[in-house]
Amino acid sequence: MGSYSEFSPIFQRLAGKVAIITGGASGIGECTAKLFAKHGAQVVIADVQDDLGKSICEELKSNEFGGNISYVHCDVTKELDVQNVVNATVSKYGTLDIMFSNAGIAGDDSDKSIADAEYDNMRKIIDANLFGAIFCAKHAARVMIPAKKGNILFTSSVASVSHGVVSHTYVATKHAIVGLTKNLCVELGQNGIRVNCISPFGVATPMLRKGMGGMGKREAEEFVSSIANLKEVILEADDIAEAALYLVSDDAKYVSGLNLVIDGGYSTTNVALMEGTKRVMS
Ligand SMILES: NC(=O)c1ccc[n+]([C@@H]2O[C@H](COP(=O)([O-])OP(=O)(O)OC[C@H]3O[C@@H](n4cnc5c(N)ncnc54)[C@H](O)[C@@H]3O)[C@@H](O)[C@H]2O)c1
Repeated sequence: MGSYSEFSPIFQRLAGKVAIITGGASGIGECTAKLFAKHGAQVVIADVQDDLGKSICEELKSNEFGGNISYVHCDVTKELDVQNVVNATVSKYGTLDIMFSNAGIAGDDSDKSIADAEYDNMRKIIDANLFGAIFCAKHAARVMIPAKKGNILFTSSVASVSHGVVSHTYVATKHAIVGLTKNLCVELGQNGIRVNCISPFGVATPMLRKGMGGMGKREAEEFVSSIANLKEVILEADDIAEAALYLVSDDAKYVSGLNLVIDGGYSTTNVALMEGTKRVMS
């Protein structure tokens, strides 16, 4: 038996690739950054949480993938910041193969009822979730089109395929990401660039826990499991990272324009009928 670890060079699925991950300092982005680095990619974390982003680089320094990860401050709502992180990445590594536009915010509760929706909150959500994604696509495409290769991946949400639970503006932005994915895949397919998005169900990241009133991780996971369709498993950020890895790797070389919904079948269910029947029959 050889002594190959899971991440030995022959098993690395992103060897030699260069990736930018927005929102890479926390939650889904952080897990994906670590997984991509283990798979041989040079990863640039682009985020506004400088201390967290730098601490991930420090944490990985001591292991064999430490040299594969770096941090650049980037507020995705500012086009110049996005342009800068793309330019800095290309200057350092000579290319950009993967843009994972994942940064996003939920906003506050003010627009759960449309009658109470506040402009400032709506604007913040749209700036981060939609303009951020558009800026990432634009500046990645600028580099990828002449290279005639590349991968653009977005994080949408189960809110792109199920409705009525979270805020209107958030849902609208996550639908917009799916539209953006499909429209970009048509233009950029002409240049060999694949464009996809991932739509996770609830993952107990800082964003979700904050939205649940500051719940602990375990409590948040139990809550998500209780409303989930698929029982006996817990959806974790690592599961989303694995899906991201698949979509940007050559394993998915002909997959483009896909909204990969990772919800354990939640969006196919209609609990209202089941609950109503239970009430009538009891
Ligand atoms: N956690 C879930 O249940 C869930 C479900 C569906 C979709 N999502 C989506 O997943 C993505 C990642 O969220 P998460 O759950 O990992 O949350 P998270 O809060 O742990 O991570 C989000 C990261 O994005 C960064 N960010 C926010 N605004 C930014 C900006 N303007 N510029 C740069 N970085 C910025 C934050 O600093 C943070 O590091 C988001 O797009 C979110 O909408 C999350």
